[in-house]
Amino acid sequence: MTSSNNKSNQPSEALAKSLMSIKSHGVQAICFFNNKGGVGKTTLVANLAAQIALKLDCKILVVDADPQCNLTQYVISDQEFVDHYNSDNPTNSIYSVIHPLSIGKGYSTELPIKKINNFGFDIIIGDPRLALKEDLLAQDWRDAKAGGVRGLRTTFVFSDLIKKAKNYDFVFFDMGPSLGAINRSILLAANHFVVPMSVDIFSLWAVRNIGEAVKVWQKELENGIRLTEDPSEIPNNGKIQRLCFLGYVTQQHKEKSESGQPRVVEAYDAIRQKLPDEVNKSLKDFFDNENISKHLGDIKHLASLAPKSQTLHVPMINVKLRGSYTTARKNAREIFNNIATNFITNLDATLSQKIK
Ligand SMILES: Nc1ncnc2c1ncn2[C@@H]1O[C@H](COP(=O)(O)OP(=O)(O)OP(=O)(O)O)[C@@H](O)[C@H]1O
Ligand SMILES: [Mg+2]
Repeated sequence: MTSSNNKSNQPSEALAKSLMSIKSHGVQAICFFNNKGGVGKTTLVANLAAQIALKLDCKILVVDADPQCNLTQYVISDQEFVDHYNSDNPTNSIYSVIHPLSIGKGYSTELPIKKINNFGFDIIIGDPRLALKEDLLAQDWRDAKAGGVRGLRTTFVFSDLIKKAKNYDFVFFDMGPSLGAINRSILLAANHFVVPMSVDIFSLWAVRNIGEAVKVWQKELENGIRLTEDPSEIPNNGKIQRLCFLGYVTQQHKEKSESGQPRVVEAYDAIRQKLPDEVNKSLKDFFDNENISKHLGDIKHLASLAPKSQTLHVPMINVKLRGSYTTARKNAREIFNNIATNFITNLDATLSQKIK
């Protein structure tokens, strides 16, 4: 099935109906994940969240769960960035959500939320010290698998975060490129996932890895919960979310080589053709609705619009410069409108299927 199944000019009435239906289900947590690096995850999260928040009037909390903090650098001003990270003990970041657990204080009482006007969403900013918490989550995972309450509570830290974000329509997670302990906890807490990918052989492998890893983790967690003496100590009484696959986004921002010459197109096309089958094979256990097109869209090379939107700290659709930016911005508007429409359509179809 191809993306042509989802109409890019879907009447806004239909979209509004889908949005209303989605909002009636309460907050939906979506992670954007690929264990391959540099495939456009952060760019997609920031620009898709901005499109849905600014154009479709949704309340979105974006969580920068990547210790590289690229999303945070993208959306906050340079001055705020310096002020925050220059301090010896910066607080109010994703680190402050996880740190209390490691010193036996339990879940943080409030989420450290920051409003980002240019993008229309709120954020929990990233923190390089999050990398230090990989160990805590990895150690406590062993305890969780054996039914230990402490390990299970640590593993459920993002479920607690999502529960506290109940006033939002969506929580979007930007994640680092690994199958490590932080990402495991996020994937076990979220309701849905989207896979941003480049069109290359590594993306085919990444799709296989994601499917296999998540299935194993879910089984191990189920086992831990069965063994635990007191599920009432765990968020949602230890109920594991069903994680659904909403679709993948391809990007071509590496279609040109450093010298500006096109890359080998035949290899690219051969892999592009394999993607739908690979996705169907590796991720079918995560489909709740077989009938939706899983290709949410294709992001072409947007030239200097991408770095310019980073330095200006505005979404690509709102970069106000003229000249060569005019065409790139027009393309960006079409691309993100199309992906947002397909994303909302698939989410609505998935949620309606779930309650049948
Ligand atoms: N459509 C695009 N056109 C041109 N450049 C792009 C486009 N999308 C992303 N880029 C550039 O590609 C680089 C990688 O993108 P991004 O940081 O979003 O990838 P990522 O998957 O989040 O990386 P990581 O795995 O390190 O987190 C960035 O420098 C970004 O500016
Ligand atoms: Mg990134």
